[in-house]
Amino acid sequence: EKGGYDHFMLKEIYEQPRAIKDTFRGRLRTEQGIIKMAGVDQNIEKFLNADRIIIVACGTSWHAGLVAEYIFEDLVRIPVEVEYASEFRYRNPVITEKDVVIAISQSGETADTLAAIKLAKEKGAFVFGVCNVVGSSIARETDAGAYTHAGPEIGVASTKAFTTQITVLTLLALKLAKHKGMFSEDKFHEFLTEMENMPAKVERALQSNALVEIIADVYKDSENCLYLGRGFNFPVALEGALKLKEISYIHAEGYPAAEMKHGPIALIDEHMPVVVIAINKGHYEKVVSNIQEIKSRKGKIIAVVTEGDEQVKELADHVIEVPETMESLSPLLTTIPLQLLSYHIAVMRGCNVDQPRNLAKSVTVE
Ligand code: M6R
Repeated sequence: EKGGYDHFMLKEIYEQPRAIKDTFRGRLRTEQGIIKMAGVDQNIEKFLNADRIIIVACGTSWHAGLVAEYIFEDLVRIPVEVEYASEFRYRNPVITEKDVVIAISQSGETADTLAAIKLAKEKGAFVFGVCNVVGSSIARETDAGAYTHAGPEIGVASTKAFTTQITVLTLLALKLAKHKGMFSEDKFHEFLTEMENMPAKVERALQSNALVEIIADVYKDSENCLYLGRGFNFPVALEGALKLKEISYIHAEGYPAAEMKHGPIALIDEHMPVVVIAINKGHYEKVVSNIQEIKSRKGKIIAVVTEGDEQVKELADHVIEVPETMESLSPLLTTIPLQLLSYHIAVMRGCNVDQPRNLAKSVTVE
C-alpha cells in the first residue's frame, strides 16, 4: 500500500509529478490556447465582475491560499484576501454579493472552513471550492468548484495536496487573466507551456533527496529552525516551518525574509539553522543581503537556489538546487526540498511521520 516507500508521506512527496499532471490534465489545452474548467466556465461572469476574492482555509491549505494571493494579484490584478477560516467566521466579516469566496480544503471536511463558506453563502457571496476529496462536505456545500486530482492523501502532513491546490489556483488565475486580456497570446502560451513542464521539473527537484538527507543529519538535533522567503516564496517558508513542526516537533517559524530584522534576527546564533529560499527571480539580491545578515551572526544557512547559482553558494553552508522557472510557478519547486527536509529529520528523530502526535488528518471539530 505504501508502494515500497517506508511512509505514506514519502510516497506522497514522490507522487507529486504525477499528481500535478493529473490536476492539469484535460484542463490545460496548450495547443488550443485555452484552459478548461467547467465550474469556472459556467460562472465566468461571477469571477470577472468580482470586486475581490476572499480565500478561506486552514493550515497548509491556507498557505496554498497565500501563494494564490500573490498569483492572482500579479496576473489578474484583482484584490485578494486570505483568511484563516476560524477567524473569518467569528469576526462578522464584511462580505457582499460582489465577492467571490474560494474555500480550499484537501479533505473537504474541515469544520471551520465549512462554517466559513456557509456564512459567506448566507451573505450572498459566490462560493467556489478547491477540494481533493470528491463528494466531501465542502465540495457539496460550495456553488461550484474544481477538484485537485492528487489522489488519496494518507499522511497527516499535507504534501501533494498543497502542490495540486497551487496548480488548480494557478490555472484559475491564468484563465481569468486571459479573459480579462491581461497578457498577450504569447505570454499566455509561455505560461501554459511552463505549467506542462512542471511535472518534469518537480521530478528534478526530487533528485535533491540524497543531499537533503545529509543536511537533515546535520540539523536533526536542533531545537529551533527559521524559514525565510520573499514574495511568492514567503508562503513556502511558512509551509516549510509547519511541516517541520508537525512531524519532527522542532520549533520552527516562517517569516518574510525582510521581516527578520524586525525581531527574529535576535534569535540567530551559531545554533540556529535558517532555511532561506533564494531563487534567481524577484527579490534575489535582497535575499542575498538577508543571507549575509544571517551569516554575520553565525547562523547556519541552508539555501534553496536555482540550478547553477553562484552567489549564494559562496555564502551558504548548504545549497539545494531546484530547476529554473517563472517566479510565479516557483513555489511548486521550492517546496519540494522543504518537504523532504522535514521528512528526513522526523525519521531520524524516530517520530511517527504519518501520524504525528495530537494531530488528525482532518479537523472536523472547531
Ligand atoms: O483538509 P484541509 O485541507 O481542510 O485541512 C487543513 C489543515 O488541517 C491541514 O492542512 C493541516 O494543517 C495539515 N496537517 C498540514 O500538513
